[in-house]
Amino acid sequence: MVAELLMECRTALDVGAGFGALALPLARRLARVTAIEPAAAMAAALRRAAAREGLGNLTVHEAAWGDVDVGPHDLVVCAHVSSLLAPGSPFLAAVGRLAERGVVLVRDLPGGQDKFFFGELYPLLLGRPYAHGCDGRETLEALERLGVAPTVTPIEYDSDQPFDSLEEACDFWMEYMRLVGAGARDSLRAFLAERLARDGEGWIARFRKRAVVVHWRTGAAGG
Ligand SMILES: C[S@@+](CC[C@H](N)C(=O)[O-])C[C@H]1O[C@@H](n2cnc3c(N)ncnc32)[C@H](O)[C@@H]1O
Repeated sequence: MVAELLMECRTALDVGAGFGALALPLARRLARVTAIEPAAAMAAALRRAAAREGLGNLTVHEAAWGDVDVGPHDLVVCAHVSSLLAPGSPFLAAVGRLAERGVVLVRDLPGGQDKFFFGELYPLLLGRPYAHGCDGRETLEALERLGVAPTVTPIEYDSDQPFDSLEEACDFWMEYMRLVGAGARDSLRAFLAERLARDGEGWIARFRKRAVVVHWRTGAAGG
């Protein structure tokens, strides 16, 4: 079980950490966590969240995987980073050597809710349909080709994303969808004001998702 693996780990590396859906809870229970996140807005939001909670054991590198040398960690996690979890990814081939105790990968499965409203926002703001690129089955096939036989656990979960303000939410979507211009931002703001829920002073984007958790032991524990 992932929980048993986690109990044996003191350090973790979260690759493509985003807002910290995994990095923050890991930092609450492990001695040291490193997060790699190339998107400036996400890395900044993660640093702010860590500072708010006083999590001085979480280090955030604003970088893509391969661009920063982070050293060994007991556990390497990577969730929902389709480019790194796709067949042929150098990350998939190397991750077993990066982790001293184990690896946990998470990818969406078809049938969950559309994350970030991309199914609606792509036609609206980019004039093209959204091609959903995250399917755990291709990651499992890629691991099989690499000779890795992981434990596979399908899950359902809430993937809620908090924002301090509507402008912060706009910053996030503008960067993530690579949008430019005041017109796009105005349309986005109107859309998000309808779709996000109020959460005290802030806003929250709620998504129900289906995913697969893939884990295996490495190093001496891997056998
Ligand atoms: C869908 S988000 C997932 C965030 C987080 N892992 C989670 O599960 O909530 C994918 C993240 O991977 C990051 N990313 C994309 N390419 C990457 C790369 N080559 N190296 C590291 N992170 C990357 C993106 O900036 C984005 O924040």
